[in-house]
Amino acid sequence: MRIVALLLLCPLWAQPALAGAGDTALQRGEYLMHLGGCVSCHTEDGGEPLAGGRKMATEFGDFYPPNITPDAATGIGGWSDAEFIAAMTRGIAPDGSHYYPSFPYTSYSGMTREDLLDLKRYLDSRPAIQRLNREHDLEFPYGLRALLSLWKWLFFDPRVIEERPRSSPLWNRGNYIVNGPGHCVECHTPRNLFGALDADRHLQGNPRGPGGEAVPPLSRDQDSEFAGWSLDDILFSLQTGMLPDGDFVGGSMGLVVDNTTSRLSEYDLRAIATYLAGDKPTSSLRTGYSVTARR
Ligand code: HEC
Ligand code: HEC
Repeated sequence: MRIVALLLLCPLWAQPALAGAGDTALQRGEYLMHLGGCVSCHTEDGGEPLAGGRKMATEFGDFYPPNITPDAATGIGGWSDAEFIAAMTRGIAPDGSHYYPSFPYTSYSGMTREDLLDLKRYLDSRPAIQRLNREHDLEFPYGLRALLSLWKWLFFDPRVIEERPRSSPLWNRGNYIVNGPGHCVECHTPRNLFGALDADRHLQGNPRGPGGEAVPPLSRDQDSEFAGWSLDDILFSLQTGMLPDGDFVGGSMGLVVDNTTSRLSEYDLRAIATYLAGDKPTSSLRTGYSVTARR
């Protein structure tokens, strides 16, 4: 009944969850690549898409995201589905070694198997680019990959993103995006001394984000400018990069807008905004979705 009521009341954007994402596995995979922001890290300025990224400066040293095109020698050509899924959800390489969490598998681990397989189909369909990976340049002792098994034991559990039946489909989709493929949580949540996300301060902002820049909070239970934004303010800023005060987002969020949020369907932007704004209907959104609103 609820579903029927929802469909009757909703405007177009509330069509089934993946509206705008395309119908074939390849189209869905391309959309998931945008959603996951793979290009933001795995592409150098002016370089071939996904053939390896520019320096990621962190407190632990500099990371150089590898080539993830299907080139067999220098990329990830020939990986099986199982190998890809192990990398994305458990941070384990085909040779059994561990990945650094600078590769946000910590969040991708919450992605559905179906989404991961569509994403892989799309990556497999890209041109193979031969480009050798550059070694990371890390401070001692972080260069010792073997230490990552300890790090993972202490700080990593694959993320479980549960459907909340009492929340609206939009809120649930937003929850999935923000904490899963969209990995918004990776920058907008503070980290401990060992670089692990502080789950108790989910989305509360990170004074020392990527490249040392401050990342503002996205939680509402805080005295921040963001807490005063309407759902439409959030949606518009993600779509265009323009903030309510007329300024534009900069820094690493500029890349997120270019490669991710400006490419998402209106449904997904609304889902993110609904999740961040807390699923409380606002005057501009009385139609439809309040039917299944949380609480
Ligand atoms: C925040 C930056 C960042 C984003 C976003 C990102 N990656 Fe990565 N990725 C990395 C880094 C850094 C590594 C290397 C990790 C290591 O060496 O331990 C990596 C490694 C990988 C590997 C392992 C490659 C190999 O040769 O072993 C795969 C596969 C991969 N990423 C796929 C993806 C996909 C698919 C996406 C998008 C859904 C993505 N990554 C998004 C930073 C990123
Ligand atoms: C690579 C790190 C990074 C990721 C990933 C990221 N953000 Fe951001 N975000 C930032 C930074 C840095 C700023 C501040 C930009 C500025 O001040 O110009 C920001 C600003 C914002 C703002 C404006 C908030 C304000 O108070 O000004 C919103 C909204 C936002 N991000 C939403 C998101 C969403 C939604 C996602 C996931 C799809 C996301 N961000 C992923 C780094 C990130």
